[in-house]
Amino acid sequence: MDIKSKLSNNLSKLPKYLFAEIEEIRNKLIAQGVDVIDLSIGDPDLPTPSPIIEALYEAAKDPANHKYPSYYGMIQFRKAAAEWYFRRFSVEFDPSKEVIALIGSKEGIAHIHWAFLNPGDYAIVPDPGYPVYNGATILAGGIPYKVPLKEENNFFPDFDSIPEEIAKKAKIMFVNYPNNPTSATATYEQLEKAVWFAKKYEIILCSDLAYSEIYQGNEKPISIFNIPSAKEIAIEFHSLSKTFNMTGWRIGFAIGNEDIVKGLGSIKSNVDSGVFNAIQIAGIRALQPDMEKYVEETRKTIENRKKNLTKALEEIGFKVYSSNATFYIWVKNPEGFSSKEISTLLLNKTGIVVTPGNGFGEYGEGYFRISVTASDERIKEAVERIKNTKIL
Ligand code: MLT
Repeated sequence: MDIKSKLSNNLSKLPKYLFAEIEEIRNKLIAQGVDVIDLSIGDPDLPTPSPIIEALYEAAKDPANHKYPSYYGMIQFRKAAAEWYFRRFSVEFDPSKEVIALIGSKEGIAHIHWAFLNPGDYAIVPDPGYPVYNGATILAGGIPYKVPLKEENNFFPDFDSIPEEIAKKAKIMFVNYPNNPTSATATYEQLEKAVWFAKKYEIILCSDLAYSEIYQGNEKPISIFNIPSAKEIAIEFHSLSKTFNMTGWRIGFAIGNEDIVKGLGSIKSNVDSGVFNAIQIAGIRALQPDMEKYVEETRKTIENRKKNLTKALEEIGFKVYSSNATFYIWVKNPEGFSSKEISTLLLNKTGIVVTPGNGFGEYGEGYFRISVTASDERIKEAVERIKNTKIL
């Protein structure tokens, strides 16, 4: 039987997941003996703070935690999430109704589409953007409307460019600031515009705030709920992955409008069985105020790495988009190179893996993304290799 021909139409429409493709290329090179420096996926090299690991260890020993978790998450975890959120953004949420635990924010971002899209409905997704917005829209039978993020607009959507008939047929839309992949941040006024647009066209506004704690300098990114009335139409996705170096743990939460949270919860209860209780208990530990000192350390490390690498790239002759958030550097392709060409060249000539901008959508063409999630030594080594191959 030709199994491939049996794949669902929706799945057949999807390209291979960007980072799965990159992983395959990287593993092939490693198997050939290449000393690969992987600066592609945003996967922190720094360890999870030890109190979180200890909390997991203790919780994992307790048989009470070996049973099915609650579908919405332990109330203690949701309470810790709401309290953390309040300390950080000064907006109150009811943990019993307005917060839900996620198996990482990617899971919630994917499932929200299933909760609200009917076949043929539009989802307004940023381009370039985190590939899950587009992929999950298609899997749910929806149609992605890709709104370009252009450098001249500081990589923020021009909502006025969205045709009225699309806006009227859109059910959900995504904003993501601090932004992946461009590293851009959004102002209060920009987010206010997003809320205004979503309210005008009655669109569920999904804010992906996975990078809220990864900022440089003193200006803290804000939440969509810092815009009054956003709670009428919005949900926000938070992740413990990037904040506490916990990508492999798979834990995050969504917070927002009660009915939107409920819709997401209905999907989740049908398709997954929640987050392992011991991981939620470790998550509660992560969300305590005393963990902030670890996050501050992480921020300092990333700030230094970004500063040093940006300087080195500029000295070599690359043009870099200057930003104060995320652990990504968004670099312009050198003259005459496409995103794929420069990424392939870096890979073959230097063993450095970066992410081609067009992997995030057609408007990512012209750029590539570097993630500073490798040690200072490896980043220095990467710079030396680029210098020695005289790409520019
Ligand atoms: C990224 O590198 O863009 C993300 O970390 C990938 C992911 O979260 O799945």
